[in-house]
Amino acid sequence: PTGLLADQLGRPLRDLRISVTDRCNFRCTYCMPKEVFGPDYPFLPQASLLSFEELTRVAQVFLAHGVRKIRLTGGEPLLRKGLEGLISMLAGLRTIDGEAPDLTLTTNGSLLARKATALREAGLRRVTVSLDALDDAVFQRMNDAAFPVARVLEGIEAALAAGLTPLKVNMVVQRGVNDQEIVPMARYFRDHFGNRVSLRFIEYMDVGLTNGWNMASVLPSASVLERLQAHWGLQPLAESAPGETAQRWAYEDGRGEVGLISSVTQAFCQDCNRARLSTEGRLFLCLFAGEGYDLRTLIRQGASQEELAGAIQQVWGQRQDRYSELRGASPAATAAGQPGAARVEMHYIGG
Ligand code: GTP
Ligand code: 5AD
Ligand code: SF4
Ligand code: SF4
Repeated sequence: PTGLLADQLGRPLRDLRISVTDRCNFRCTYCMPKEVFGPDYPFLPQASLLSFEELTRVAQVFLAHGVRKIRLTGGEPLLRKGLEGLISMLAGLRTIDGEAPDLTLTTNGSLLARKATALREAGLRRVTVSLDALDDAVFQRMNDAAFPVARVLEGIEAALAAGLTPLKVNMVVQRGVNDQEIVPMARYFRDHFGNRVSLRFIEYMDVGLTNGWNMASVLPSASVLERLQAHWGLQPLAESAPGETAQRWAYEDGRGEVGLISSVTQAFCQDCNRARLSTEGRLFLCLFAGEGYDLRTLIRQGASQEELAGAIQQVWGQRQDRYSELRGASPAATAAGQPGAARVEMHYIGG
């Protein structure tokens, strides 16, 4: 069975985010703090991971139900061995409109300089690179892996040269940690890349339970915008796709655009059309969900494509998740109890 799906709030399924590894070579303090993710941390064993064939089968069913965009995430997705192989398998699939899926990936950029060309040749269309600061001391304090800014910038250059465009850069903003980098980051990406790169400022979110999040460390997007407007004229842009995470603003002088991702101060659950598949094949309906629906067992028990489709239809059809909206309505309640009392970790679900 194929066809379009709607959840309990009438939201379609459009975007599939697949985490291909729970490992990362960074230890960003807001995502994989070293105290928790130390040398003895039990990452998933190889046998737990969905194989490329299994992932492709699942992706095919999702595409048959309206998915148009597939984003590979991690951990750090470029750490998964032979990822180009998966990309070429996914690039061969088709949406219900007979088109190739919009195939993209979110990376910390550390391996991008080396891999950009091969990724592009395998069929990847574009990439999003995370970079939280231009200042090395600030960046290294955040990635906690002594990784220099210059190498991420080389990765960005290589991705652009390989034709992985349009390219987006994600900056997670933490008040008192890297908020002084907002204007320098904006200036750098405007001056060096203009329209070729769009920089997005992300409100620090309470994903998972290990990062010690609190509201005081969130700098609201409205403040980010004010700081930018002190330097440049900016005009709001219309939504380019329903359910988009970022509100986009164009520089008045035409030198590109920035995005504001405000999941804390302005939840965007209303149009959330994203499903997330964990590395071991659990289907999560929300970034803040406690549990995922186990598709791997189904697959390994020999379920047919029709049976997989039936399971996905049923799970999506019952979806009611809208965590960020509820948190907005009552931050204390979400911090203390339901929903979101048990929460998946970012390195496991990939953002
Ligand atoms: P594009 O189509 O390329 O714009 O993709 P995107 O904005 O969905 O991708 P990306 O992975 O770059 O996400 C940017 C940030 O938004 C990350 O910090 C994500 O964790 C966050 N984000 C993405 N989707 C959701 C969501 O459904 N809910 C919440 N709360 N945050 C999200
Ligand atoms: N809040 C907001 N964004 C986060 N990311 C990771 N953890 C958080 C968090 N707690 C970002 C990464 C990456 C994207 C997928 O999610 O930096 O850019
Ligand atoms: Fe790795 Fe990205 Fe998490 Fe940083 S935010 S630890 S780069 S997965
Ligand atoms: Fe979607 Fe959950 Fe994020 Fe809301 S909080 S936008 S429902 S993933």
